[in-house]
Amino acid sequence: MSLDELREKILKLKQKKNAVILAHNYQRDEVQEIADFTGDSLELSRRASTYDCDVIVFCGVNFMAESASILSPDKTVLLPAMEADCPMADMITVDKPRILRMNFPGYNDVTYEYPEKFTLRDMKKRYPGVPVVSYVNTTADVKAESDYCCTSSNGVKIVDGIDSDRVICVPDRNLAAWIAKNTKKEIITWDGFCHVHDRIRQVDVVAAKSAHPAAVFVAHPECRLDVCEMADHVTSTSGMLRYCWESDAKEFIIGTETGLLYRLRLENSGKRFYPLRNDMLCPNMKKTSLRSVLFALENNTQVIKVPEEIRVPAKRALDRMLEIA
Ligand code: 13P
Ligand code: SF4
Repeated sequence: MSLDELREKILKLKQKKNAVILAHNYQRDEVQEIADFTGDSLELSRRASTYDCDVIVFCGVNFMAESASILSPDKTVLLPAMEADCPMADMITVDKPRILRMNFPGYNDVTYEYPEKFTLRDMKKRYPGVPVVSYVNTTADVKAESDYCCTSSNGVKIVDGIDSDRVICVPDRNLAAWIAKNTKKEIITWDGFCHVHDRIRQVDVVAAKSAHPAAVFVAHPECRLDVCEMADHVTSTSGMLRYCWESDAKEFIIGTETGLLYRLRLENSGKRFYPLRNDMLCPNMKKTSLRSVLFALENNTQVIKVPEEIRVPAKRALDRMLEIA
């Protein structure tokens, strides 16, 4: 089937099923193109709850579809790609220790083993009474075990808004380091990371800047702290879209997954965008295709439904974040 035929079938079926298609900023170009809305992880879930629809086709990774289900329990949430997980979200568990063997393509061929029999509940026991802020890149049960959530753009604000001098931030060590740098509070961190962003080193920034000396450098806070410190601006994927759109600069080095370049180029015709490194690719984000979107709509697969006993406390953590932000 050609791309045009796929698109036509999807649009017809979408109407018939009263469905909306939401796509994360890292999705393949053709998936973003067909979406009703594209955005960062939290924007997508919040937007999902505002649509008067029966079905949400969530083109992203598992934790994002879970967030949509947490905020829209009456809608059917479909995740078209099988096993589209976020390895960083999988680096923390609530109470069942597990050793994860992860092999990240292009990331120094490292097989990463994590965590060493340590869980979020162990962490809470080690620091009794210290509030837990979980990044939205976590599974629903980790959110349910947390006091607050935060996003890549509001982490500092959330930590500053909590009535405690010490805060536990999980699972991303790099986001936690960025928050620690920008708050007076003591931050206790987990040792998780995103292999797409963590692979970037200062030498990569130096190389990109010398290739494009007039370019402004924007970074995602999942990059290492020493890389973020070289950036002109550090924010979420949609924060980057807004920043580049509002900026008078004409050239930008983009320190995040290369899928963001699709919208940056589409929305800013007079400006030039360069990936910080060409291998900033998230394989899980690229698992969704037009074919899998069509299959999901035709067969109602795979339904992501967070059980009520997890959904209610997870929503509380998200709501507390929204109150502060
Ligand atoms: P954003 O929420 O900034 O879109 O980030 C999601 C993500 O997975 C980053 O790697
Ligand atoms: Fe997870 Fe990184 Fe992929 Fe984002 S880019 S979904 S944090 S692995």
